[in-house]
Amino acid sequence: MSGIAIMGGSGFTKLEKLEITHREVAHTPFGEPSAPLTHGVFNDQEIVFLPRHGTGHTIPPHKVNYRANIWALKHAGVRQIVAIAAVGGIAPEMAPGVIAIPDQIIDYTYGRDHTFFEQDLSHVTHIDFTHPYSESLRGKLLDAAQRAGVPVVPHGVYGATQGPRLETAMEINRMQRDGCSLVGMTGMPETSLARELDLDYACCAVVANWAAGRGDTPITMKAIEDNIEHGMKQMITLMEALLNGVKT
Ligand code: HPA
Repeated sequence: MSGIAIMGGSGFTKLEKLEITHREVAHTPFGEPSAPLTHGVFNDQEIVFLPRHGTGHTIPPHKVNYRANIWALKHAGVRQIVAIAAVGGIAPEMAPGVIAIPDQIIDYTYGRDHTFFEQDLSHVTHIDFTHPYSESLRGKLLDAAQRAGVPVVPHGVYGATQGPRLETAMEINRMQRDGCSLVGMTGMPETSLARELDLDYACCAVVANWAAGRGDTPITMKAIEDNIEHGMKQMITLMEALLNGVKT
């Protein structure tokens, strides 16, 4: 049984170098996860891999079954989740190609099934979400980045938008005034659902593009994909270093 999971984002639908031991089709009270859980050995560590957008990258951010994904990982014995996500860069330090380990979130999503605590409750439950990411897992990621010589920005405020469209320039201006330095579409409710089930969860964000109104060229899917591809090579190195240093 593996204690650590990697949730793959855009550009990370499979994990090369993962020696697959088996695939598990999970059923949860909330429906089916985005894909079968892939169990395997990566860098001598047992891990579980789950591509958030499905094996063929066909599930858009607002249609991901976040509850089923998190529930299935919990019930597979996972205790720590490293969530890989492609994002847009808002702050000047978040240029395309940068990898950031965010430490805060602002949630702009709506209409998503965002809690496990809504039915058949014996009491109303409010989780503490002051610090949305696991500090200990963030620390392990930062440590791994240093050991592997992978440059990372060790903070960031992840603004989670509804998508699937990208934002307007003025929405990004507003998000920047709010304090967001990154923008992505999948950070919520994934992060708070992990907290509801008491899982350690941290995000590794790859900046794929300047957010709307920030760059001087139009945002194209091609440019996004090219930057993700470059960032993901670094990401693999980072995951290898993490799994060398993490106890599951
Ligand atoms: N906005 C929202 N989500 C994203 C972006 C963006 O600019 N780039 C990659 N994911």
